[in-house]
Amino acid sequence: MDILGIETSCDETSAAVLRDGRELRSNIIASQIDLHTKTGGVVPEVASRQHVTQINAVIAEALEVAGIGFGDIGAVAVANRPGLLGALLVGVSAAKTLAYALNVPLLAVHHIEAHIYANWLVDPEITFPVVCLVASGGHSEIFLVRGHGDYQILGRTRDDAAGEAFDKSARLLGLPYPGGVEMDKLAREGAGNPKAVPLPRAQLGPDSLDFSFSGLKTAVSHAVRDPKWAEVTRPDWAASVQEAIVDALVAKTLKAAKAAGVDHVLLAGGVAANSRLQAVMREACARACLRLTVPPIRLCTDNAAMIACAGYYHWQAGLVDGLDLDTRASERLA
Ligand code: KG4
Ligand code: ZN
Repeated sequence: MDILGIETSCDETSAAVLRDGRELRSNIIASQIDLHTKTGGVVPEVASRQHVTQINAVIAEALEVAGIGFGDIGAVAVANRPGLLGALLVGVSAAKTLAYALNVPLLAVHHIEAHIYANWLVDPEITFPVVCLVASGGHSEIFLVRGHGDYQILGRTRDDAAGEAFDKSARLLGLPYPGGVEMDKLAREGAGNPKAVPLPRAQLGPDSLDFSFSGLKTAVSHAVRDPKWAEVTRPDWAASVQEAIVDALVAKTLKAAKAAGVDHVLLAGGVAANSRLQAVMREACARACLRLTVPPIRLCTDNAAMIACAGYYHWQAGLVDGLDLDTRASERLA
Protein backbone atom coordinates (compact mmCIF):
# COMPACT_ATOMS: atom_id res chain seq x y z
CA MET A 1 0.00 0.00 0.00
CA ASP A 2 1.71 3.19 -1.22
CA ILE A 3 0.39 6.45 0.21
CA LEU A 4 1.24 9.71 -1.55
CA GLY A 5 1.57 12.50 1.02
CA ILE A 6 1.27 16.18 0.10
CA GLU A 7 2.27 19.18 2.26
CA THR A 8 1.81 22.86 1.27
CA SER A 9 0.66 24.50 4.52
CA CYS A 10 3.37 27.17 4.70
CA ASP A 11 6.62 27.61 2.81
CA GLU A 12 7.66 24.11 1.72
CA THR A 13 6.12 22.31 -1.23
CA SER A 14 6.55 18.64 -0.43
CA ALA A 15 5.41 15.22 -1.69
CA ALA A 16 6.37 11.80 -0.35
CA VAL A 17 5.63 8.14 -0.92
CA LEU A 18 5.29 5.90 2.13
CA ARG A 19 4.91 2.13 1.72
CA ASP A 20 2.85 0.20 4.27
CA GLY A 21 3.19 3.00 6.82
CA ARG A 22 6.86 2.18 7.39
CA GLU A 23 9.05 2.30 4.34
CA LEU A 24 9.76 5.85 3.21
CA ARG A 25 10.30 5.53 -0.56
CA SER A 26 10.68 9.27 -1.24
CA ASN A 27 10.34 12.64 0.48
CA ILE A 28 10.82 15.59 -1.88
CA ILE A 29 10.91 19.05 -0.28
CA ALA A 30 11.04 22.20 -2.42
CA SER A 31 11.87 24.94 0.05
CA GLN A 32 10.83 28.54 -0.57
CA ILE A 33 13.34 29.90 1.95
CA ASP A 34 15.38 31.83 -0.63
CA LEU A 35 12.22 33.54 -1.85
CA HIS A 36 11.09 34.57 1.65
CA THR A 37 14.55 35.63 2.84
CA LYS A 38 14.17 38.71 0.64
CA THR A 39 11.11 39.83 2.62
CA GLY A 40 12.35 38.57 6.00
CA GLY A 41 9.35 36.28 6.35
CA VAL A 42 6.61 34.44 4.48
CA VAL A 43 4.29 36.57 2.34
CA PRO A 44 1.20 34.30 2.03
CA GLU A 45 0.33 35.24 -1.55
CA VAL A 46 3.91 34.70 -2.70
CA ALA A 47 3.95 31.30 -0.95
CA SER A 48 0.69 30.18 -2.64
CA ARG A 49 1.93 31.13 -6.09
CA GLN A 50 5.18 29.30 -5.53
CA HIS A 51 3.27 26.16 -4.47
CA VAL A 52 1.27 26.34 -7.71
CA THR A 53 4.50 26.54 -9.70
CA GLN A 54 6.16 23.65 -7.86
CA ILE A 55 3.48 21.14 -6.93
CA ASN A 56 3.27 19.05 -10.12
CA ALA A 57 7.03 18.72 -10.47
CA VAL A 58 7.41 17.83 -6.79
CA ILE A 59 4.76 15.09 -7.01
CA ALA A 60 6.30 13.74 -10.23
CA GLU A 61 9.71 13.59 -8.57
CA ALA A 62 8.32 11.86 -5.47
CA LEU A 63 6.83 9.13 -7.67
CA GLU A 64 9.98 8.82 -9.76
CA VAL A 65 12.30 8.50 -6.76
CA ALA A 66 9.89 5.97 -5.20
CA GLY A 67 9.95 4.02 -8.48
CA ILE A 68 6.18 3.99 -8.91
CA GLY A 69 3.62 5.44 -11.30
CA PHE A 70 0.29 7.19 -10.68
CA GLY A 71 -1.51 3.85 -11.02
CA ASP A 72 0.38 2.45 -8.02
CA ILE A 73 -0.86 5.09 -5.57
CA GLY A 74 -3.17 3.44 -3.03
CA ALA A 75 -4.33 6.60 -1.21
CA VAL A 76 -3.57 10.33 -1.11
CA ALA A 77 -2.94 12.08 2.22
CA VAL A 78 -2.86 15.86 2.41
CA ALA A 79 -2.44 18.56 5.07
CA ASN A 80 -5.70 20.58 4.96
CA ARG A 81 -5.38 22.44 8.31
CA PRO A 82 -4.07 24.58 10.01
CA GLY A 83 -1.95 26.85 7.82
CA LEU A 84 -2.05 29.59 5.21
CA LEU A 85 -5.35 29.13 3.38
CA GLY A 86 -4.08 29.89 -0.11
CA ALA A 87 -1.09 27.62 0.42
CA LEU A 88 -3.17 24.74 1.82
CA LEU A 89 -5.58 25.06 -1.09
CA VAL A 90 -2.87 24.17 -3.60
CA GLY A 91 -2.05 20.86 -1.91
CA VAL A 92 -5.69 20.02 -1.26
CA SER A 93 -6.65 20.71 -4.89
CA ALA A 94 -3.84 18.47 -6.13
CA ALA A 95 -4.79 15.73 -3.66
CA LYS A 96 -8.48 15.83 -4.55
CA THR A 97 -7.72 15.74 -8.26
CA LEU A 98 -5.51 12.66 -7.84
CA ALA A 99 -7.90 10.88 -5.47
CA TYR A 100 -10.77 11.45 -7.92
CA ALA A 101 -8.84 10.55 -11.07
CA LEU A 102 -7.27 7.44 -9.55
CA ASN A 103 -10.36 6.51 -7.54
CA VAL A 104 -8.38 6.07 -4.31
CA PRO A 105 -9.10 7.23 -0.72
CA LEU A 106 -8.46 10.86 0.22
CA LEU A 107 -7.02 11.30 3.73
CA ALA A 108 -7.11 14.77 5.33
CA VAL A 109 -4.41 15.36 7.92
CA HIS A 110 -3.98 17.99 10.64
CA HIS A 111 -0.51 19.49 10.18
CA ILE A 112 0.36 19.27 13.89
CA GLU A 113 -0.80 15.68 14.09
CA ALA A 114 1.54 14.97 11.19
CA HIS A 115 4.48 16.57 13.05
CA ILE A 116 3.79 14.16 15.94
CA TYR A 117 3.64 11.22 13.51
CA ALA A 118 7.14 11.97 12.19
CA ASN A 119 8.16 9.96 15.26
CA TRP A 120 6.40 6.85 13.90
CA LEU A 121 8.63 7.05 10.83
CA VAL A 122 11.57 6.61 13.22
CA ASP A 123 9.96 4.05 15.49
CA PRO A 124 6.70 2.38 14.33
CA GLU A 125 6.59 0.38 17.59
CA ILE A 126 6.07 3.33 19.95
CA THR A 127 3.82 2.21 22.79
CA PHE A 128 1.19 4.53 24.27
CA PRO A 129 0.90 6.69 26.25
CA VAL A 130 3.66 9.13 25.34
CA VAL A 131 4.21 12.85 25.84
CA CYS A 132 5.09 14.85 22.71
CA LEU A 133 6.49 18.38 22.57
CA VAL A 134 5.48 20.07 19.31
CA ALA A 135 7.51 23.24 18.75
CA SER A 136 7.25 24.90 15.36
CA GLY A 137 6.91 28.32 13.77
CA GLY A 138 3.25 28.63 14.71
CA HIS A 139 2.83 26.15 17.59
CA SER A 140 4.30 25.25 20.95
CA GLU A 141 2.27 22.55 22.62
CA ILE A 142 2.74 19.55 24.86
CA PHE A 143 0.40 16.64 24.13
CA LEU A 144 -0.34 13.45 25.95
CA VAL A 145 -0.82 10.93 23.13
CA ARG A 146 -2.99 8.14 24.53
CA GLY A 147 -3.49 6.20 21.31
CA HIS A 148 -3.61 6.74 17.55
CA GLY A 149 -5.57 9.96 17.01
CA ASP A 150 -6.19 10.35 20.76
CA TYR A 151 -4.62 13.58 22.07
CA GLN A 152 -4.90 15.51 25.29
CA ILE A 153 -3.36 18.95 25.52
CA LEU A 154 -1.17 19.33 28.62
CA GLY A 155 0.38 22.72 27.89
CA ARG A 156 0.45 25.36 25.18
CA THR A 157 1.94 28.76 24.55
CA ARG A 158 -0.06 31.69 25.80
CA ASP A 159 1.45 34.04 23.21
CA ASP A 160 4.29 33.40 20.74
CA ALA A 161 5.38 29.97 19.52
CA ALA A 162 8.95 28.82 20.19
CA GLY A 163 9.85 29.11 16.49
CA GLU A 164 8.38 32.59 16.45
CA ALA A 165 10.54 33.48 19.48
CA PHE A 166 13.61 32.23 17.60
CA ASP A 167 12.68 34.04 14.38
CA LYS A 168 11.66 37.36 15.97
CA SER A 169 14.71 37.47 18.27
CA ALA A 170 16.94 36.59 15.34
CA ARG A 171 15.50 39.50 13.42
CA LEU A 172 16.30 41.83 16.32
CA LEU A 173 19.87 40.51 16.20
CA GLY A 174 20.03 41.19 12.46
CA LEU A 175 20.09 37.53 11.42
CA PRO A 176 18.42 36.40 8.18
CA TYR A 177 15.15 34.42 7.93
CA PRO A 178 14.49 31.76 9.13
CA GLY A 179 16.17 32.88 12.32
CA GLY A 180 15.97 29.63 14.26
CA VAL A 181 18.34 27.80 11.93
CA GLU A 182 20.76 30.75 11.86
CA MET A 183 20.75 31.09 15.63
CA ASP A 184 21.44 27.40 16.11
CA LYS A 185 24.35 27.58 13.68
CA LEU A 186 25.80 30.80 15.09
CA ALA A 187 25.64 29.59 18.71
CA ARG A 188 27.17 26.22 17.82
CA GLU A 189 29.88 27.26 15.36
CA GLY A 190 30.82 30.38 17.31
CA ALA A 191 30.83 28.49 20.64
CA GLY A 192 28.46 31.13 22.06
CA ASN A 193 28.20 31.59 25.82
CA PRO A 194 24.58 30.88 26.88
CA LYS A 195 25.09 32.94 30.05
CA ALA A 196 26.39 36.07 28.27
CA VAL A 197 23.08 37.95 28.53
CA PRO A 198 20.60 37.11 31.31
CA LEU A 199 17.15 36.67 29.71
CA PRO A 200 13.80 35.78 31.32
CA ARG A 201 12.25 32.29 31.53
CA ALA A 202 8.51 32.63 32.16
CA GLN A 203 7.33 30.09 34.77
CA LEU A 204 3.59 31.00 34.85
CA GLY A 205 3.02 29.40 38.26
CA PRO A 206 4.45 26.28 39.94
CA ASP A 207 2.11 23.77 38.25
CA SER A 208 1.71 25.40 34.86
CA LEU A 209 2.73 23.44 31.78
CA ASP A 210 2.13 26.46 29.52
CA PHE A 211 4.75 28.53 27.76
CA SER A 212 5.10 32.28 27.26
CA PHE A 213 7.76 33.67 24.94
CA SER A 214 6.57 37.25 24.38
CA GLY A 215 8.53 38.52 27.42
CA LEU A 216 11.71 37.07 25.99
CA LYS A 217 11.20 38.90 22.71
CA THR A 218 10.63 42.18 24.60
CA ALA A 219 13.70 41.57 26.78
CA VAL A 220 15.84 40.94 23.68
CA SER A 221 14.52 44.08 21.98
CA HIS A 222 15.52 46.18 25.05
CA ALA A 223 18.84 44.43 25.63
CA VAL A 224 20.13 44.82 22.06
CA ARG A 225 19.78 48.60 22.44
CA ASP A 226 21.27 48.68 25.94
CA PRO A 227 24.91 49.96 25.98
CA LYS A 228 25.55 47.53 28.83
CA TRP A 229 25.51 44.64 26.30
CA ALA A 230 27.21 46.49 23.45
CA GLU A 231 30.30 44.26 23.62
CA VAL A 232 28.39 40.97 23.48
CA THR A 233 29.32 38.97 20.37
CA ARG A 234 26.71 37.58 17.98
CA PRO A 235 27.40 33.95 18.92
CA ASP A 236 26.97 34.91 22.61
CA TRP A 237 23.66 36.64 21.81
CA ALA A 238 22.47 33.64 19.82
CA ALA A 239 23.46 31.19 22.57
CA SER A 240 21.77 33.30 25.28
CA VAL A 241 18.45 33.58 23.42
CA GLN A 242 18.57 29.93 22.40
CA GLU A 243 19.23 28.81 25.98
CA ALA A 244 16.23 30.76 27.30
CA ILE A 245 13.91 29.07 24.77
CA VAL A 246 15.44 25.62 25.25
CA ASP A 247 15.29 25.87 29.06
CA ALA A 248 11.55 26.59 28.95
CA LEU A 249 10.81 23.81 26.44
CA VAL A 250 12.80 21.19 28.36
CA ALA A 251 11.56 22.15 31.84
CA LYS A 252 7.88 22.05 30.88
CA THR A 253 8.17 18.86 28.83
CA LEU A 254 9.87 17.03 31.70
CA LYS A 255 7.28 18.35 34.13
CA ALA A 256 4.50 17.17 31.79
CA ALA A 257 6.03 13.70 31.42
CA LYS A 258 6.24 13.40 35.19
CA ALA A 259 2.67 14.65 35.73
CA ALA A 260 1.31 12.27 33.08
CA GLY A 261 3.36 9.34 34.40
CA VAL A 262 4.79 8.33 31.01
CA ASP A 263 8.23 6.88 30.36
CA HIS A 264 8.66 8.00 26.76
CA VAL A 265 8.98 11.53 25.31
CA LEU A 266 8.75 12.52 21.62
CA LEU A 267 9.93 15.73 19.95
CA ALA A 268 8.29 17.23 16.88
CA GLY A 269 8.17 20.39 14.74
CA GLY A 270 10.80 22.60 13.15
CA VAL A 271 12.29 23.73 16.48
CA ALA A 272 12.95 20.05 17.36
CA ALA A 273 15.73 20.34 14.75
CA ASN A 274 17.59 22.66 17.16
CA SER A 275 20.85 21.01 18.20
CA ARG A 276 20.91 22.57 21.67
CA LEU A 277 17.30 21.53 22.38
CA GLN A 278 18.13 17.98 21.38
CA ALA A 279 21.25 17.90 23.57
CA VAL A 280 19.62 19.41 26.67
CA MET A 281 16.48 17.29 26.27
CA ARG A 282 18.58 14.14 25.85
CA GLU A 283 20.46 14.87 29.06
CA ALA A 284 17.32 15.73 31.02
CA CYS A 285 15.49 12.61 29.82
CA ALA A 286 18.46 10.40 30.67
CA ARG A 287 18.55 11.86 34.19
CA ALA A 288 14.81 11.26 34.61
CA CYS A 289 15.04 7.71 33.15
CA LEU A 290 12.78 8.69 30.22
CA ARG A 291 13.11 7.32 26.72
CA LEU A 292 13.43 10.05 24.07
CA THR A 293 12.67 9.87 20.35
CA VAL A 294 13.70 12.68 18.01
CA PRO A 295 13.04 12.52 14.26
CA PRO A 296 15.94 13.37 11.93
CA ILE A 297 16.08 17.09 11.00
CA ARG A 298 14.47 16.56 7.58
CA LEU A 299 11.45 15.00 9.30
CA CYS A 300 11.26 17.69 12.03
CA THR A 301 10.75 20.63 9.66
CA ASP A 302 7.79 20.64 7.26
CA ASN A 303 7.71 17.60 4.98
CA ALA A 304 5.20 15.32 3.27
CA ALA A 305 6.53 12.06 4.75
CA MET A 306 4.92 12.93 8.07
CA ILE A 307 1.63 13.71 6.26
CA ALA A 308 1.70 10.29 4.56
CA CYS A 309 2.47 8.63 7.90
CA ALA A 310 -0.43 10.28 9.76
CA GLY A 311 -2.60 9.47 6.71
CA TYR A 312 -1.64 5.81 6.97
CA TYR A 313 -3.01 5.60 10.52
CA HIS A 314 -6.20 7.43 9.45
CA TRP A 315 -6.62 4.89 6.65
CA GLN A 316 -6.06 2.01 9.07
CA ALA A 317 -8.78 3.45 11.32
CA GLY A 318 -11.15 3.87 8.35
CA LEU A 319 -11.01 7.67 8.52
CA VAL A 320 -11.43 8.53 4.84
CA ASP A 321 -12.48 11.99 3.61
CA GLY A 322 -14.79 13.09 0.81
CA LEU A 323 -14.06 15.19 -2.24
CA ASP A 324 -15.89 18.09 -0.56
CA LEU A 325 -12.84 18.42 1.75
CA ASP A 326 -12.10 22.01 2.72
CA THR A 327 -9.08 23.87 4.11
CA ARG A 328 -9.03 25.54 7.53
CA ALA A 329 -6.61 28.28 8.63
CA SER A 330 -6.80 27.31 12.29
CA GLU A 331 -8.04 24.36 14.28
CA ARG A 332 -6.77 22.91 17.52
CA LEU A 333 -5.69 19.29 17.52
CA ALA A 334 -7.00 18.88 21.06
O1 KG4 B 1 7.55 22.94 11.64
P1 KG4 B 1 8.12 24.02 10.81
O2 KG4 B 1 9.05 23.64 9.69
O3 KG4 B 1 6.99 24.90 10.18
C1 KG4 B 1 5.83 25.20 10.89
O4 KG4 B 1 4.91 24.35 10.92
O5 KG4 B 1 5.82 26.30 11.49
O6 KG4 B 1 8.86 25.01 11.82
C2 KG4 B 1 9.49 26.17 11.37
C3 KG4 B 1 10.15 26.85 12.56
C4 KG4 B 1 10.75 28.19 12.23
O7 KG4 B 1 10.38 29.11 13.23
C5 KG4 B 1 12.25 27.94 12.25
O8 KG4 B 1 13.01 29.06 12.63
C6 KG4 B 1 12.34 26.84 13.30
O9 KG4 B 1 11.22 26.02 13.05
N1 KG4 B 1 13.58 26.06 13.18
C7 KG4 B 1 14.54 26.07 14.11
C8 KG4 B 1 15.57 25.23 13.62
N2 KG4 B 1 15.18 24.73 12.41
C9 KG4 B 1 13.95 25.25 12.16
N3 KG4 B 1 14.62 26.70 15.28
C10 KG4 B 1 15.72 26.51 16.01
N4 KG4 B 1 16.77 25.75 15.61
C11 KG4 B 1 16.73 25.09 14.43
N5 KG4 B 1 17.76 24.33 14.05
ZN1 ZN C 1 5.08 22.55 10.54
